[in-house]
Amino acid sequence: MLLEVRDLRVEFHTRDGVAKAVNGVSYGVDAGETLAVLGESGSGKSVTAQAVMGILDTPPGRITGGEVVFRGRDLLKLKEEERRKVRGAEMAMIFQDALSSLNPVLSVGDQLAEMFTVHRGMSRRDARARAVELMDRVRIPAARERAGQYPHQFSGGMRQRIMIAMALALEPALIIADEPTTALDVTVQAQIMELLAELRRELRMGLILITHDLGVVADVADRIAVMYAGRIVESAPVHDLYKSPAHPYTRGLLDSVPRLDLKGRALYAIEGLPPGLTHIPPGCAFHPRCPLARDVCRTDEPPPYEVSATRGSACHFWRECLDG
Ligand SMILES: Nc1ncnc2c1ncn2[C@@H]1O[C@H](COP(=O)(O)OP(=O)(O)OP(=O)(O)O)[C@@H](O)[C@H]1O
Ligand code: SF4
Ligand SMILES: [Mg+2]
Repeated sequence: MLLEVRDLRVEFHTRDGVAKAVNGVSYGVDAGETLAVLGESGSGKSVTAQAVMGILDTPPGRITGGEVVFRGRDLLKLKEEERRKVRGAEMAMIFQDALSSLNPVLSVGDQLAEMFTVHRGMSRRDARARAVELMDRVRIPAARERAGQYPHQFSGGMRQRIMIAMALALEPALIIADEPTTALDVTVQAQIMELLAELRRELRMGLILITHDLGVVADVADRIAVMYAGRIVESAPVHDLYKSPAHPYTRGLLDSVPRLDLKGRALYAIEGLPPGLTHIPPGCAFHPRCPLARDVCRTDEPPPYEVSATRGSACHFWRECLDG
């Protein structure tokens, strides 16, 4: 495994009490593999990723347990200085909002070139040439001319390509993309996803793709981990999960995806709201919203049951769910 997150726990101390944002998350990704992390807003997808990258705000956040094993080392045990070397060079992150992640007063060519002068000790001239190469690689038209322009002079989709170029610059082994296409229109979304998938294949990188959009992941991901209230409730190869979900929450998510073949039919929506993380319900956190819930669900927290060698589900009644 390139990256293996084991039983990760993150808390935030807030005025309302301790918010348990990540409650024992385990997931892994191999070189050349794409793992999609899916879940409603507030389920802990970004906080998990921030803890993996080492960019969690502490305080208010605190990692209270677990391991982040990357290329054989537990990153949580590294000193900040060693951690910083891993970041950028070995693992990089792409965010939703390129405009606030890029430097507004530096041309994009200079920003990209800086990666090579600072981290690789290249001359300005060579670094600038590499920057243009990278812009070409993420298919920014007229790269040489546009390298002198500033982030605000690019469209949203083009800015996102620049972010991808920044992340790729040092050829990291792992990229974490946190909702990389959410702010873009549908056509551009598809282009960016295709680009990411292609680069991932070419460079044999591991890719963690965070999204709340099931439609986005079907074509590009190998595996899916579904998060709910800070836990992974189901994890499976994409096709298995689409064909027959083993958790009622996943089933609910699948049933609420608009489908062209069922045009006109009312969309199903999961009833109720996700729980507040300072007051996660006892037993199965999903029980107040679950159509299959019964007494045991209100008292006993479901362990990660093994559905098959490659699948897991945190539902007492996963068999029933699997059978539809
Ligand atoms: N800086 C913070 N201070 C306090 N609580 C925080 C902070 N950041 C995150 N949290 C808590 O962690 C929870 C999980 O947040 P996270 O950003 O991981 O959700 P997410 O799954 O990425 O959602 P979204 O789809 O909206 O991006 C939040 O609901 C919030 O309670
Ligand atoms: S454990 Fe119970 S409440 Fe939780 S998802 Fe399964 S059936 Fe629903
Ligand atoms: Mg998020």
